[in-house]
This record gives sequence, structure tokens and C-alpha cells, in this order.
Amino acid sequence: MDEKEVAIGSDHAGYELKEQIKKLLESEGYTITDFGANSSDSVDYPLIAKSLATEVAGKNPNRGILICGTGIGMSIAANKVKGIIAANCFDTETAKLARLHNNSNILTLGGRILNFDTAKDIVKVWLETDFEGGRHQRRIQEIRDLEKR
Ligand code: RB5
Repeated sequence: MDEKEVAIGSDHAGYELKEQIKKLLESEGYTITDFGANSSDSVDYPLIAKSLATEVAGKNPNRGILICGTGIGMSIAANKVKGIIAANCFDTETAKLARLHNNSNILTLGGRILNFDTAKDIVKVWLETDFEGGRHQRRIQEIRDLEKR
């Protein structure tokens, strides 16, 4: 698994920020798989979340970023896919903890909430922070157990 591989997707409300983040990550040597949207034309976020989250759950690649207007709809939809822990982050602290404690494999962002400068800091911290494990591993397992019910 190439650690510099990231899936990215958005609806219309996240399209502009997605393009900016994609360009930034490509310039930093990341390989990006883009699940759309391909324009600012209206598209339903659950459909994009489903395609990207299904691939991330299969570790192909093992991390993804989803952007809608608030990041909320994308996180709700992505978290319905087994194996996904999607975290809607709004600053670098939540981004760091979403990796350290929650081992999130999808970051969701609000394209109508965040400016590019804040979003790029969030993405950088999220991509560069490792899961802490330990007591948090037990809690992640408890989440996995919820999926089996
Ligand atoms: C689309 O208008 C908007 O509802 C969507 O981007 C997202 O914010 C949903 O949570």
C-alpha cells in the first residue's frame, strides 16, 4: 500500500475546495484517486460517499477525503459503510485527534465552512498523524462490534 495514496471526492458544494486540495496534494507527491464531482453541477453527496468509502473500506487506497457543504452529510453517509471511520474535522486539533484516538480512515470537510488555508492545515495534520493504539484500539474494536449486530 502506497502511503502517499489518497482518495478524494465531493459534491457540488465541496467541488472548489476538492480541486484546491487535490492540486496541493499532487504537488506534494501524493497519488490521488478522484471520485468526482467533476464540476459545480448539483450531485447527491451519498452517492459519492458510497463509491469512495467502499474503496477505502477495501484499502484501495486506505485513506480518503470527502467534502460537501458542511462535511456532515458526507460523514453520515460514509460511516454507513462497514470498515469506515469518517471524521468531520474543523481545525487541526480535531484532525489530530481523529487520527490519534479514532483511527479515522476518512476525513470530511465543509467546503462552505472552511477556507482553503484552514482546510490545507487540517488535511496535512490528518495525513501525517498516526493512530496511537493502546486503549484506543479497544474502543475501535467496540465500534467494529457495533457493525456486526
Ligand atoms: C448541499 O446543498 C448540501 O446539503 C451538502 O453539500 C452537505 O452540506 C450536506 O450535508
